Amino acid sequence: MDRKPVIAGNWKMNMTTSAAVKLVQDLEYKLEDKGNLDVDVIVCPPFTSLRSVSTVFEYDKPKIAVGAQNMHWEEKGAFTGEISPLMLKDLAIRYAIIGHSERRQYFSETDEMVNKKIKSALNHKITPIVCVGETLEEREENKTQDKIKKQVIAALEGLQGLEVRKLVFAYEPIWAIGTGQTATPEQANDVIRFIRATIASASEPEDATHVRILYGGSVTADNIKSLMAEPEIDGALVGGASLEAESFAGIVLGARHS
Ligand code: 13P
Repeated sequence: MDRKPVIAGNWKMNMTTSAAVKLVQDLEYKLEDKGNLDVDVIVCPPFTSLRSVSTVFEYDKPKIAVGAQNMHWEEKGAFTGEISPLMLKDLAIRYAIIGHSERRQYFSETDEMVNKKIKSALNHKITPIVCVGETLEEREENKTQDKIKKQVIAALEGLQGLEVRKLVFAYEPIWAIGTGQTATPEQANDVIRFIRATIASASEPEDATHVRILYGGSVTADNIKSLMAEPEIDGALVGGASLEAESFAGIVLGARHS
């Protein structure tokens, strides 16, 4: 199955609006003359910059889509500080990162909440980028597969096969995030193969072949090619290196099939 690569930039809690606009304009400029990229390129700015970034792309007709870093599952109501899928749709947001380890760790997001967010995103035609991953302690105790399996099965709870196919997963080992310590391509490929097998067992094998599964954790323009050379790795969810146009464009170009 030939799956189109995805490179998504998770800006986390960085960038003022003016810096965000400059970054995406620089990025467009760097990708402009590169022909058909054949990569789905996504930037995920903080909520405060979504509108400005969307507006840049609305006029420039670019090769880049916009995603949010989180969303609530309800459409509206008394949820102070939250952002709903309707609000994202209103800004032409097409993706949402769901269940990032930082949200699970610092904001107590549970597998159940992640599942509700996935269902709500799909109902609103927003593609969820579902994050899963183990801690260093879990890896050292040989509990990586247990942890990943639990997170993947919970994420898929109640979804139909055709919905499953639309998902993007990101395998982000917590020990590799922001540490400069990338999982080796083989380590990442092994866990991603396991994620696909878990999806196949929870849904149908054919559904699992459609799901794009990314690797995240200290991805750079230097290591992207060796990650993409692995058969199961369909792209990357990039943190630090997505904050500069030069490095993010380098990752996008390095992810191309040809
Ligand atoms: P880094 O690329 O900074 O390690 O962050 C990875 C990440 O958490 C992306 O969601």
